[in-house]
Amino acid sequence: MGNIVHVVGTGTIGEPLIGLLCDMKEELGIDEITFYKHRPVLTDRAKIKSLIRRGGNLVVGKEKMDEFRELGVEPVYEAEEAIKRADIVVDCAPKGIGLENKEKFYKKYENEVTAFLAQGSEFGFGKPYALGINDKAITDKDKYIQILSCNTHNIAVAIKSIGFSNDDENDFVFGRFVCIRRASDISQEGSFIPSPYVNEHKDKKFGTHHARDVWHVYNTLGYDLDVFSSALKINTQYMHSIWFDIKVKGKIDEEEVIQRFIDNPRVAITYKKLSSLVFSFGRDHGHYGRILNQTVVVVPTIRVRNENEVFGFCFTPQDGNSLLSSMSAILMKLYPDKEEYKDKMEKLSPFLFREV
Ligand SMILES: NC(=O)c1ccc[n+]([C@@H]2O[C@H](COP(=O)([O-])OP(=O)(O)OC[C@H]3O[C@@H](n4cnc5c(N)ncnc54)[C@H](OP(=O)(O)O)[C@@H]3O)[C@@H](O)[C@H]2O)c1
Repeated sequence: MGNIVHVVGTGTIGEPLIGLLCDMKEELGIDEITFYKHRPVLTDRAKIKSLIRRGGNLVVGKEKMDEFRELGVEPVYEAEEAIKRADIVVDCAPKGIGLENKEKFYKKYENEVTAFLAQGSEFGFGKPYALGINDKAITDKDKYIQILSCNTHNIAVAIKSIGFSNDDENDFVFGRFVCIRRASDISQEGSFIPSPYVNEHKDKKFGTHHARDVWHVYNTLGYDLDVFSSALKINTQYMHSIWFDIKVKGKIDEEEVIQRFIDNPRVAITYKKLSSLVFSFGRDHGHYGRILNQTVVVVPTIRVRNENEVFGFCFTPQDGNSLLSSMSAILMKLYPDKEEYKDKMEKLSPFLFREV
C-alpha cells in the first residue's frame, strides 16, 4: 500500500500537520495521508473540505459515518481500519486521549504499524523526543514516541545551544526558566483570561511539567540535569515567551552565547522585541503562517553575569517546533537509512529561518 501516515485530531497541531504532510507528500515519498476527525460539526466543514482538497483522506468513527455524510463530506475509512493500515500514526488529540487510544487501539496493531507518536501532553506515552536533542536515543525498537511540547522544546534547545554546544563535553551547570504562555491559540475559541494567571509549582523537584519533560528528554542520553521551571499565562494570543537563566562551567561572554545560538541550524535570532512582529513574520514567510524553528532568540536580551551565567528571552514558535519534530520522527521511522532521512528532512528547510 506504500507509506501511509495517519493523523488523529485536526486541532491546533493536527490541522497544520495534516496540511504540511499533504503539501509535501510527493517530495517526502509519502503515498497516503489519512486524518481522523472527531466531531461532525458544521463549523468545521470548511476545514475538513480543505484538508480533503489538499489530498488527505477523511477518517471518522464507524457510528458517525452518516452524520459526516449529512454534513456533505465523504469518509474514506473508519477509525480502527485507518490505524491498522497506517505505517505511522500521529496522535494529536487533547490531553489524555493519546494514552487512552494507546490502550484501546494502538496496542492491538503493534505488528501492523511501524510507530505511534503522540504530542506534548501525553507524558508516559513513549520515549520523549525533540529534533536535534536526543535523535541518537531513538532506535528502531521505539514503537511509541512522545514529541515534546512547544515550550519544552524551546527550553531543551536553549540548554543545548548554550550548555551542550560541544556534543562530547557539556558545559551545563543548571537552568531556570519562566514560561510566559499565550492564553489561547488564534485557532481556539476558549481559554480567554482577563489578566495574567500564574501556575503553581506542582512538581517539587522541577516546578512545572516543562522542566520535568526536559529532564526526561536529556535523561534518554544519560544526563541528570539540574533544571527548574515556572509558568504563567498572559492575555495574549501571540506566541509564548521564555525567560532563561543558564549557568555554565567555563567562562562565556555575550558574543559567544549569540554565536552558539547561531551555530544551531534550527534556531532563529531576532532583534524584534514584540512577539506579534515575530508571529507576523511567520504569517508572511512560513508554511501557512508557521515557521518551523525550534526557538527565536531575542539577541538584545542576552546578558552574561559573572562570566558564567546567561540570561535572556526567546519566543516559542508554538506549534512550529512540535511540527518539525513530528515530521522528523515520521521520516526517521519511514526512512531508517540516515542519508535518505537527511535528504527528506532537507525538503523542510525553506520553513526554517536563521533570522526573523
Ligand atoms: N496548541 C499548541 O500550540 C501545541 C503545541 C505543541 C504541542 N501541543 C500538543 O498537541 C496535542 C493537541 O493539542 P491541540 O492544541 O492541537 O488540541 P486541540 O486544538 O484542542 O485539538 C484537539 C483535536 O483532537 C480531536 N479530538 C477530541 N477528542 C478526541 C478523541 N476522543 N479522539 C480523537 N480525537 C479527538 C478534536 O476533534 P474535534 O475538533 O472534532 O473535537 C481536535 O481536532 C496536545 O498533546 C498538546 O499538548 C499543542
